[in-house]
Amino acid sequence: MADPVEIFEVGPRDGLQNEKRAIPTAEKVALVDLLSRAGFRRIEVASFVSPKWVPQMADGAEVLAGITRAAGVRYAALTPNLRGYEGARAARADEVAIFASASEGFSKANLNATIAQSVERFVPVVEAARADGIPVRGYVSCVTDCPFDGAVAPGDVARVVAILRDFGCYEVSLGDTIGQGTPEAVDAMLAAVTCEMPAADLAGHFHDTAGRALANVDVALAHGLRVFDAAVGGLGGCPYAPGAAGNVATEALMAHLEAAGHPTGLDAGIVAEAGRMARKMRTG
Ligand code: HMG
Ligand code: MG
Repeated sequence: MADPVEIFEVGPRDGLQNEKRAIPTAEKVALVDLLSRAGFRRIEVASFVSPKWVPQMADGAEVLAGITRAAGVRYAALTPNLRGYEGARAARADEVAIFASASEGFSKANLNATIAQSVERFVPVVEAARADGIPVRGYVSCVTDCPFDGAVAPGDVARVVAILRDFGCYEVSLGDTIGQGTPEAVDAMLAAVTCEMPAADLAGHFHDTAGRALANVDVALAHGLRVFDAAVGGLGGCPYAPGAAGNVATEALMAHLEAAGHPTGLDAGIVAEAGRMARKMRTG
């Protein structure tokens, strides 16, 4: 049997954040509660960002208050600045995530800041989280391609990964935000990034826009990565990344990993049911 692989479920956040319909909080809570029974150890359920920027995530505190927390599951939230961190802490998020971009164009579009300015805003977040004992995960977006700047150099990704490592992020998730990465580009990017951070502390976050997410997962597995982000139902997209389609579907990723002998510890029946629920949330 091959190594176990963890799927970090990001459907309630990355999956839903771009949906146009104002999804009622109760539906989000029902999705998280179902996912809590599937065997995930970490589920990203909210982001504490400007409601003007991402209206769908405006009810993050209500979602965190409404869910039934399962033992052994950590409920995560995105926090772009101290205000977001304080909201996440008050809502009792078990861990938070800071998110940077490897490309200036996407940083400006997503955070209204240069990479350097976004990093400055993370300083008080990581200081407060350290004082509170709350784990911080890091994200790097546009690890191969940027919707504004085009191809991204592996060294630019490695530089941002090193910053997040130095901040004390316990894990850094590498985002192919617009799903344009080829296996060759992912391979080159990981060769650079693993010089800065060990594969055991990295996660792959592949969007499936061009249908290459699973091929890119295989490249990352070969580099030693054993954590992958996915969204049930293959929902997803970033409002500030034109052309970004869904995250790799949790159902498809789980089947792919288990066919290759990697146990995921997930209940396929519940994951499938959550996928159906998530797709239905898209249409209402
Ligand atoms: P800004 O306009 O530069 O900052 O936005 P600001 O400080 O001037 O604030 C603007 C307004 O937002 C103010 O309200 C603030 O009070 C408010 P106003 O005075 O206009 O009424 N505000 C907040 N409200 C709630 N929570 C907060 C917060 N902070 C400020 N935390 C800001 C800067 C970072 C806030 C904005 O750019 C933002 O919210 N961006 C988030 C965009 C986002 O969530 N994108 C999607 C997630 S990233 C992603 O999906 C990629 C990923 O999946 C990996 C991958 O695929 O690559 C992670
Ligand atoms: Mg994403």
